[in-house]
Amino acid sequence: MKDRIKVITEEALKEIGACRAGEDTVEALRVKYLGRKGIITELFKQIGSVPAEDKPEIGKLINILKESVTRSLDEKSLLVPSAEEKAPPIDVTLPGESGHIGRIHPITRTIDEINSLFVSLGFRIVEGPEIETEHYNFETLNIPLEHPSRDAFDTFYVSFEKKTLLRSHTSPVQTRFMEKNRPPFAIVVPGRVFRPDATDASHSFMFHQVEGLVVGQDIKFSDLKGTLTTFARQMFGKEVRMRFRPSFFPFTEPSAEVDISCIVCGGKAGEKRCSMCGGKGWLEIMGAGMVNPKVFEAVGYNPEKVTGFAFGMGVERIAILKYGINDIRLFFENDLRFLRQF
Ligand code: DAH
Repeated sequence: MKDRIKVITEEALKEIGACRAGEDTVEALRVKYLGRKGIITELFKQIGSVPAEDKPEIGKLINILKESVTRSLDEKSLLVPSAEEKAPPIDVTLPGESGHIGRIHPITRTIDEINSLFVSLGFRIVEGPEIETEHYNFETLNIPLEHPSRDAFDTFYVSFEKKTLLRSHTSPVQTRFMEKNRPPFAIVVPGRVFRPDATDASHSFMFHQVEGLVVGQDIKFSDLKGTLTTFARQMFGKEVRMRFRPSFFPFTEPSAEVDISCIVCGGKAGEKRCSMCGGKGWLEIMGAGMVNPKVFEAVGYNPEKVTGFAFGMGVERIAILKYGINDIRLFFENDLRFLRQF
């Protein structure tokens, strides 16, 4: 028994000496030696089987062992571990962890680009409300009651009584602005618009437009052509050619659909395999025209004295063409694999 106590004493002090201050192993050793089923606790239990005359001495030895183990363990757990003991040394040659840097959304980026291009041509940026009235969304723009876009199925009405709706285009900001300002001016109006279209690769119930309006004395169709040509060449490349196709919008007269020569095949007619234009050679980028005199009358301008031109483009359409994107839904799904490419 005496020998066992001696061996245990040596082992215990060696083990305790080897463990690091403040570490969990200190507490594990406390359990191992002093716990309810610990080695020293077991020794006390064995005293019963020791011959009576040896009991006092053995008891004393076990008590000494218990005290010295308790003291050593206490010292270890009270000691504050040195920095070196606490953490392994730092390897300064390891590569650092980089933080996450956000990106500008491709739609925001395209709006910014369009805006700054027009600002460089002397335009001002103006915004308007997303919840509009029938009055501005349709009436002031010469869109008659029987026009299909005024149908409840073709517009998100907010209230039939108040005649409020989610604007279906940014054009209402034209008349809102004209009511409060006098010509001459040149404005661009970026913003969200809403149409109850079924979502597919080329349709979304919400998308973005940039509207343009220039009003003054002697503003001509050639000014419209020059401005939009400058815009398209800066946006898509110097070699881009323009086509103005006769069209119809209630708020412009005459009206045009504006096309650019295909930016993939260069507009070579008959290039049937072109993934972008499918052989047409042209890509539609916006609607435009000379402001209809009826629109001027609706805001109290004298159509005999002022003329102007207007245009409206879909931002997603511009971004899709510029970046070669094949599905409008990608802009709104927040898939980081897509967004990280911009
Ligand atoms: N508001 C038209 C649309 O949403 C786009 C448009 C066409 C705007 C011709 C204009 C314009 O200002 O002159 O389809």
